[in-house]
Amino acid sequence: MQRLVLASNNAKKLKELRELLTPLGIELLPQGDLDIPEAEEPFFTFVENALAKARHASHLSGLPALADDSGLCVRALGGAPGVLSARFAGEPKSDARNNLHLLDKLDGVTDRTAHFVSLLVLVRHADDPQPIIAEGNWYGEILTTPRGEHGFGYDPLFWVPETGLSAAEMSSDAKNQCSHRAIAMRQLLTRLNEL
Ligand code: IMP
Repeated sequence: MQRLVLASNNAKKLKELRELLTPLGIELLPQGDLDIPEAEEPFFTFVENALAKARHASHLSGLPALADDSGLCVRALGGAPGVLSARFAGEPKSDARNNLHLLDKLDGVTDRTAHFVSLLVLVRHADDPQPIIAEGNWYGEILTTPRGEHGFGYDPLFWVPETGLSAAEMSSDAKNQCSHRAIAMRQLLTRLNEL
């Protein structure tokens, strides 16, 4: 089994990525298990932040590293919260407060179009000159009240028209078929197989 360090300590993200990678014989080790602190995410784009996180984890572990920088982009908010999704309502980060803040921002707004983005970056070593980069987008709409108990983050407010469900009403298997992270992961694996 191949080992990759995951440049994140987000337990829900780890669970989703493990469900996608374990069947392929790839073991994901969260960076916290190796006492690697979280990297700074000072950039304005998902790809720059994901690359910074992957390099940081690989540099400190000496192992190949995978990073997911992800977030929610809402059309009526000009793409916000975007790279600031985890801390939309400020510190300390809280999914519950982020969701309330989003509902507040969209109060009375009729265009509720939004998409989730996942930027996956895999570096084979810290100085890898050719990181493998993949992007997935998942399109939907923001509900006016939360629905569902599964998932994490903005899932209870993210309605997926094709399924008639919020992301938090979907089973983890169903979410793993169509989510931004699943789309990005399929792309990443195709790129890896092409090498
Ligand atoms: P990151 O850890 O800096 O990539 O922040 C990701 C943030 O985006 C999370 O804390 C969530 O708020 C949001 N997010 C990313 N992916 C998802 C998802 O699959 N469902 C719900 N929220 C998500």
